Parts: sequence; structure tokens; C-alpha cells
Amino acid sequence: MPMVDMKHMLQHAYRHGYAVGAFEVVSLDFLDGIIMAAEQARAPVILSLAESRFAHFNFDLIMPAVEAAAMRAQVPVAIHFDHGTCLESAVNGIRLGCNGVLVDLSHLDFVENTQMTKQVVETAHACGVSVEGELGYVPGAEGEGAEIFPGDLAYTLLAEAKAYVERTGVDFLAVSVGTVHGRMKGKPKLDYTRLKQINEALKIPLVIHGGSGLSDDQCRRLIANGVTKINCYTALSDVAAKQIRENVRINTASGCTGLTKDINRAVATEVERCMRLWGAAGRAAEVLAQCQPWNPVEHLIIYNVEGLDHRDVETMMAEGCRVLSTIPGVRGVFSGEAVQTDASYRYTWLIRFCHPAVIDSYREHPVHVAFADNLFRPVAGKRISIDFQPVKPATARYYVEHEGA
Ligand code: 13P
Repeated sequence: MPMVDMKHMLQHAYRHGYAVGAFEVVSLDFLDGIIMAAEQARAPVILSLAESRFAHFNFDLIMPAVEAAAMRAQVPVAIHFDHGTCLESAVNGIRLGCNGVLVDLSHLDFVENTQMTKQVVETAHACGVSVEGELGYVPGAEGEGAEIFPGDLAYTLLAEAKAYVERTGVDFLAVSVGTVHGRMKGKPKLDYTRLKQINEALKIPLVIHGGSGLSDDQCRRLIANGVTKINCYTALSDVAAKQIRENVRINTASGCTGLTKDINRAVATEVERCMRLWGAAGRAAEVLAQCQPWNPVEHLIIYNVEGLDHRDVETMMAEGCRVLSTIPGVRGVFSGEAVQTDASYRYTWLIRFCHPAVIDSYREHPVHVAFADNLFRPVAGKRISIDFQPVKPATARYYVEHEGA
């Protein structure tokens, strides 16, 4: 099953008046539980990876698992890079497989937030990746009690929201209307009038951070006013911790696997409850039929070299791998030599782009232009260059199929 374009996924939700859960992944148990719930509820789902958690897990190592789970899920999945701190970390998230990003600049003043978010949008859109912006301030920290974090909530202002979306071009807007990250202190008072006005003015999918601890009625009213992505972590963290305590109670001498047993099921139960409440349950088939699949592009070059000895060719290849892999939207660079000594073309570049949009942005990127003009084209005489996409969505799975999933 393909991943789907996050913008298409959330626009579908916006048109049909439901919200997709963006559930935070902090371990393989969470990943497994979230996908299990989505398949059970037949719901589209967003797997969310937050930069604030990178001390807890290795982002580079967890992403191949997240991507493999998304590819083989029976429901449409998007992968979001949450609360990034800067443009560079968002580009790294895109390289590792995220197709939606938030660089959270909501703590900055309006002008700075707008200017820097605009740069994120330009770079991410050139990779085909959707961008969430955040305006106003949602205090607290995911997984913790909100009262420990004294930062003041700042509501999103209508006039600023209009100007911000117009100037930055973000695809979705995270608004501050009374929620907090982490466990709520008391019942949060949500400003529905503000949300309604923002929704009527912007008409783009709105995002709620701090989705844990809201009542059923609050969720319904948020969704009725344009909220189409709800971020959730603390509720999952709490049910996982409860399961661990229960495991300890049953057997205090348990080892690690005994202590972490059934976390996936506990997470799945809470995720499925949210999917049903937020209206995403049962939507998987429509989303798959109506939304663009998220497929990579393989940029293939085969070539022969004139006027360089083998060592110089290796040097040129090593430099190409180093510099080309830094270009936004490039997921990997393979440089190789033909196994057959009589091949018509001796050498290859096989460069994976995250999305077809990268074909143009890569070609025009100054790093590519400099490498191609100075080191590659002068020596690569005869060559063929073609961009390939999977013929059918299912073939996007070719690199996990052999697992016998
Ligand atoms: P909660 O931890 O309060 O559910 O919030 C999650 C969140 O907003 C992630 O961005």
C-alpha cells in the first residue's frame, strides 16, 4: 500500500469534516500499535516523529522501520516531522522519509516566524513535501503534566493568521485556541469563536497540538470548525506507562520484554478510540482512491568517461556522492561501475528523489549545477539520463517485499 501525499490526505479530511490523528512514534511498540489501530479502524493515519524526542531514540535508525510500516500498512499513511527546530533538521527529516514537516517557530515574533517559515515552505515545496506552520503559542511539554511548564498560552490572532498564511504559503496551520501540550490542568477552555473565524478566513486544514485530554464534545466542536489534524502523544504515553506498571505488578522480576509486553495493544486501543471519535474510521478506501500516492523517483544516469584514469573517476564519484546527497529531496546517492566488463555504459548514478518535484529543483540546485558543470559533464561523454517512478503503487514496495511481509 502506498504512502499518500499529506496535503491530499488532510484536504480530504477538511472537505469531509473529520480529523486525522497524528500519533507520535517513540518506539517500535508505538509504531506497531498505531498501525494496528489504523488497520482495525480502516482509518488514514499520520505517524509523527518529534525532534524533541531525539534524545530518546535514534531518528536515523527508527525511520527505516517507520517507512517500512507505512509501506506495508493496509491503510493510507503519511509521515510527519514534528516540532523541528530549523530548516536543516526538516531537510534531514525529508531525506529520511517524512512527507510533511513543521519547523516550530511559534516562540519567535510574528515577523521572524513568517520569514523563516517562508524559507521552510520554499525548500519543502521544492521537494513536494507539505508544510505545517504554527502561530500563537501552545505551552507545556508532551508526556508531562502541563502545570510543570509555566509558559503562557498565546492565542492565535485572526489578522496575523491571515497574513502568515498568505506570506508563507503553508499548507496547514497549527492554531493556539486553548489546548496545552501534556496533561491538562483542569478542563481546558477552548475559544471556538476564534477558531471559527480563523477557519472561515483561511479555509485550509487547521491543526491542534495538545490533543490529549480533550473531551469528546471538545473534539467534535474543534473538528466542526476546520480542525483536520490532531496531534496526540501524552494519552498514548500514559496508557503505555500504565501497561508497564501492570506488567511490574504481575511479575516484579520480569525482564525487559516482560515489562514492555502489550504496550502495542494498549497504544492501539487508545489510538482506535481517537480514530472513531475524530471521524477518520472507515475513510481509508476513499483516501486511497482520491489522494495522490507518495512515490519516490529513481534518477538514473548511465555514462562513459573520457580522459580520466580509474582513480580520478573514483575521486569524482566520491565527491558527487558527498555533495549531491546534501541537496533537499535527495534520499540517497548510489554511484557504481558495471559488473560486466563489456557493458555499453561503464558507470552509473542512481539517485533517489523523495518526489517528482525534486527532478526540477535538483537540476537547478547550485550544488548540482556546480558539480555537473565542473566535475561531471566535462568528462562524461556518452550518457543517458532518465527518471523512473514505480509503474503501479504496489511496486513502490520493492525494497521491502523480500521480507515476505
Ligand atoms: P499531547 O502530548 O498533549 O497529546 O500533544 C501532542 C502534540 O501536540 C505533538 O505535537
